[in-house]
Amino acid sequence: MTQQTRPLEGKVRFGLIGFGAWGRHHADAIHKTPGAELVAIGARSEASCAAARAAYPEARVYAHYEELLADNSIEIVDIVVPSYLHHEIARQALEAGKHLLLEKPMAITLAECDDLIATARRHDRIFAVGHELRLSSLWGKVKELIEAGYIGEPQYALVELSRNPYRLGADGWRYDISRVGNWILEEPIHFFDLARWYLERSGSPVSVYAAANSRQPEHPELQDNFSAIMKFEHGAYAVVTQTLSAFEHHQTAKVTGTRGALWASWSGAMDRTRHPTFSLRGYNGQHVEEIPIEKMTGELFELEDQIAMLVQVLRHQGTLSCSAEEGRWSVAMCLAAQRSVESGQPVPFADYLPS
Ligand SMILES: NC(=O)c1ccc[n+]([C@@H]2O[C@H](COP(=O)([O-])OP(=O)(O)OC[C@H]3O[C@@H](n4cnc5c(N)ncnc54)[C@H](OP(=O)(O)O)[C@@H]3O)[C@@H](O)[C@H]2O)c1
Repeated sequence: MTQQTRPLEGKVRFGLIGFGAWGRHHADAIHKTPGAELVAIGARSEASCAAARAAYPEARVYAHYEELLADNSIEIVDIVVPSYLHHEIARQALEAGKHLLLEKPMAITLAECDDLIATARRHDRIFAVGHELRLSSLWGKVKELIEAGYIGEPQYALVELSRNPYRLGADGWRYDISRVGNWILEEPIHFFDLARWYLERSGSPVSVYAAANSRQPEHPELQDNFSAIMKFEHGAYAVVTQTLSAFEHHQTAKVTGTRGALWASWSGAMDRTRHPTFSLRGYNGQHVEEIPIEKMTGELFELEDQIAMLVQVLRHQGTLSCSAEEGRWSVAMCLAAQRSVESGQPVPFADYLPS
């Protein structure tokens, strides 16, 4: 969103809402980032409040997020709550004059996304969405090489994940479709975001055709396997595919162009490991090479980079890695893919563009 805010001196003061499985990693990332201060945490249950107090005795802990939003010392609010609450809490944070880091999915409907974008504009607030893979030394290097022309004109991208099943989430919200939205909004949303980013030179996505199935026939909405083909304006297409019926956590991106190819892969015993293995191989049209990735990569590292990026943006020294408008695109791709799963037909994006 806008970057017109006053220059900040001293540490950027963060308030975190949501101290669950992923929120705890956000707290850790804020705590570790030079230039950031974790001023307050909003949690819901007594157990989460107690855990927050024990882990960060120097932070204020609020049992009602409205109290955190009324805390004038907080400049930016980081929201890491179940997806169905994103719109409600993010809207109030913006109306309270806070800048915002909102976890993906930005919201579970496009009407909610549009409302948040309009609210952020009205209040002239910075609004970042948590697509942290864009900050990765590995997935980001693929983008950098594409933009530098390494593979020629990009024509095809495969973004693939095989992993173990999703976590339940507090109260089991992630397995309740009315609260999670759909399962494409959980993990494949990251891969749609990467695919669109990688194939940007082929214009905007124009349609998506998707299929999914479940190991539990009585719960077809809990998609253990999901695959989609997404076509772009100027002829490129992307395949986004995932299985939750596998083991560990293994992600691949293969991008080919008119001249060459890139093949990136990341593996860990689980998604949140600090000890992954990863590699990037490239073919520049002449020879195959190993492309060194000097910096460690994985979602825990990218989360720290995301907080550092926001500190820079709030100090007028950087740009957002993923804006609210990009976050809206990611939600749109997931909702269109879900409609395709249900109808068995390709779904054009025309109905999903902002009015
Ligand atoms: N970017 C990424 O890679 C990534 C990774 C994981 C998750 N996420 C996203 O992050 C969000 C949270 O996921 P999670 O795995 O952390 O879920 P989780 O483990 O269920 O944690 C959610 C937390 O939100 C808290 N909460 C619910 N309502 C609240 C309220 N009104 N005020 C304060 N706290 C409230 C819950 O509190 P109680 O514990 O007290 O019930 C719970 O601790 C989801 O939107 C998910 O999609 C993103």
